[in-house]
Amino acid sequence: MTAEEAKSAIEQLSAKIRHYNHQYYQNSISEISDYAFDQLLEQLIQLEEQYPQYRYPDSPSQRVGGTITKDFETVFHTYPMLSLSNTYSEEELAEFDQRVAKALPEQAYEYFCELKFDGVAISLRYENGLLTLAATRGDGVRGDDITANAKTIRSLPLRVQAENLPPTFEVRGEVFMPRSVFDQLNQEREASGEALLANPRNTTSGTLKMQDSSLVAQRKLDCYLYSLATDGIHIETHQEAIALLEKWGFQVSPTYRKCQSVEEVSAYINGWEEKRSELPLDTDGIVIKVNSTQQQKLLGSTAKSPRWAIAYKYKTQSAVTILRDITYQVGRTGAITPVANLEPVALAGTIVKRASLHNANEIERLGVRYGDTVSVEKGGEIIPKITGVDISQRSAQSQPIQYVTHCPECNTLLVRQEGEAVHFCPNQAGCPPQIKGRIEHFIQRNAMNIDSMGKETVALFYEQGLVKNVANLYALSFDDIFALEGFKEQATQNILSGIEASKQISFPRVLFALGIRYVGRTVAEKLAEHFGSVDSLAIASHEQLIEVPEIGERIAQSVLEYFRDTENQQLVNELKQAGLQFSLQISDQTPENQVLSGKTFVVSGVFEQLSREEIKEKIKLHGGKVLSSVSAKLDFLLAGTNMGPAKRKKAESLEVQIISEEEFLAMLD
Ligand code: IVH
Repeated sequence: MTAEEAKSAIEQLSAKIRHYNHQYYQNSISEISDYAFDQLLEQLIQLEEQYPQYRYPDSPSQRVGGTITKDFETVFHTYPMLSLSNTYSEEELAEFDQRVAKALPEQAYEYFCELKFDGVAISLRYENGLLTLAATRGDGVRGDDITANAKTIRSLPLRVQAENLPPTFEVRGEVFMPRSVFDQLNQEREASGEALLANPRNTTSGTLKMQDSSLVAQRKLDCYLYSLATDGIHIETHQEAIALLEKWGFQVSPTYRKCQSVEEVSAYINGWEEKRSELPLDTDGIVIKVNSTQQQKLLGSTAKSPRWAIAYKYKTQSAVTILRDITYQVGRTGAITPVANLEPVALAGTIVKRASLHNANEIERLGVRYGDTVSVEKGGEIIPKITGVDISQRSAQSQPIQYVTHCPECNTLLVRQEGEAVHFCPNQAGCPPQIKGRIEHFIQRNAMNIDSMGKETVALFYEQGLVKNVANLYALSFDDIFALEGFKEQATQNILSGIEASKQISFPRVLFALGIRYVGRTVAEKLAEHFGSVDSLAIASHEQLIEVPEIGERIAQSVLEYFRDTENQQLVNELKQAGLQFSLQISDQTPENQVLSGKTFVVSGVFEQLSREEIKEKIKLHGGKVLSSVSAKLDFLLAGTNMGPAKRKKAESLEVQIISEEEFLAMLD
C-alpha cells in the first residue's frame, strides 16, 4: 500500500466508523454488530500505526485511549463554572419564581426544565469544529485538562460538522457512568476480592482522573450536555441552544420541557420523581432555567450561582423499619461481610429486606442493636444502606451487637489486620465458601471461560470430593463426572471440552483467574505485560512490582504474599503441568504494541522525560526486547546522560545504532 492509498483508506474507514457512531448515538440505530464495529476500529488503528502522519486528532481511534497523562495540566475556564442553588420544596420553588418575576418587572418569561444529572461537570472547547480541550470544573475558575480521557466518551463528537458553525464555542455538561456499567464493574471487583465502589458519581470522578486513557475507555463513560456558550452566533433561548447542540450531534437531556408557569414546573417535577429510576443513569433532581438568554443576562449571577436557574432536588428516598438480625457472608478471599436482615419495607418501588453494613466499624459508627428501629436509604448504591437509628424506640433490654469472632462457615477464629476495616477467615485451604468461591472465580467468563460449568456444578464436585482446588479440574475423567447423578454423556463431554479449551486462554486471563487478592482483570493485564511470564512475576521484588504503572503498595504486597505461599506455588506448578498458558504469547499483545517487534534494546544512563524503568516497559509493551549488555546482535543502544563511556565505545565499534530518548519516543509515535 502506498502512503496515498493508506491516507485514503484511513479517511474512508474513519468516515464509516463516524457514520455508525452517529447512527448509534444520535439515532439509536445499530447498523452493524459490536464485533464488526470493533473490527473496523481495529483496522483503522493498525493503519494509523503504520502511517502515523495520517492519525488525525479527531480520528475515531482516539476513543480507545492510550495516552498516559502524568500530571493533569491546570487550565483556566473562559468563563467561570458556577454551581446551582438548591431547593427542596414547592414553597422554595415559588420563592425562586417570585425573585425572577421581581427582577423582570412587567415581562413575560418562561422556564425550561431538564433533568439534573448526578455525575461530574465538564467543559469542552471546540475550535473550527474540533474538540481541543476538555476540562474538569476544579474550583470553578480553573480545572484539570482531561482531554485525552474525555475523548474516550463515544457519544461525544470529536469534530462537529455543521453549517454556520461558530469558529469557537464551549459546551458544558455532565459526564456519568451508566448504572449498568457501574454494576458490572462492581461485580468484577467483587469477583476479584476488591473493595466495592460506592456509587457511579464517585467512580466517574475517579475514572476521569485516571492516568491511562485506555483504562478510561474501558469504563464506558457517557455524557449529557446542557449549555452552549459562543460569541459566534446569537442565541435567543436556552431551548434554541439545546436544539443546536442536538443538531450538532451532542447528547442532551433525554427529557426536557418548556413551562409557562411555576405550576407547570411542579407538574413536570412530580411527573419525573418516580419515572427517573427507569433512566440509565442517576439523577438527583430537575434544573429549572429561565429560557430567554436576554432575561438570563438581566438576572445575572452571584459569585456562586446564576440567579436565572435553580435545582429542585428530590429527597433521597428512605423508609423506617426494624433490624431483625445480622448474617455474615464469607467471600472468596475470606472477607467477612455483615448483612442486615430487615423487617421487609417498601422503598422506591421495591421491597427491601436486606441492607449492607460493610464492616464492624460501620456497625460501631451507627451504634445499631438488634431490634432497633432504623432508617434505610436507597441512593446510587447497589443495595440500600442503614443511615440512622432511632434510639428513642429502643427497648431497655437491648445490648450492643457483638461482632462475630469465628467464621460462620468453618468456625476458624477471624483475624483483622492492622489498619483494615474488614475481618477475614484465615482458613483459606479448608473454608468451603472460600474454596468454592476460588473455583467459581476461576471458571467465570472473564477468566478461564469454562461456561459448561456453573455454581451448582462447582458445589457438587466439591461436595463429592472430586475438586478441592482449580488444578483438580484438569485431572477430572469422563467416568468421574458421568458417575454423578444427573450427568448424561453430552453434559459430561461439554464440561470436559470446556476444561480442555481453557488451556488456550491467554496468560493475562490465567493470571486473573488465579484470584490473587486485588489482582482484577486490568491489574492482571498490566502485570502480565510487564513481566511476561508467571516465573518472572513470582520472583519479582517489591520494588520491581511497584515500578509497574498503576501497581501500588497494596497490590504488590498481595502478589508477594501469594507467591510466597508454598501451596500456591504448588498449585501454579500443577496448572503449568496441565498445560495452561503461563507466559505471554506475541498474539496476546495488542497490535499497537508491535511497532518495536523483534527489535532489541539496551537502555543506559539517565533520561529526561521517562524513567529508565518506564522506557524499558514501553519497549516491552511495543513488542521489543530489553537486553542487559551490548553485543553485535543488538539493534539499538538507548543512551541517556551519564552513560558509561565503555558501553558507548563498544556500541560504536560494533556499529550498533545509538539513539537518544527523543529518537526513541519518535519511534513509538
Ligand atoms: S446548568 C451555572 N443543567 O449540577 C451552572 N447543571 O450544582 C449551570 N448539573 O456542577 C449548570 N445536570 O454539573 C445544569 N441539566 C443540568 C445539570 C447540571 C447536572 C450539575 C452541573 C453543576 C451542578 C450544579
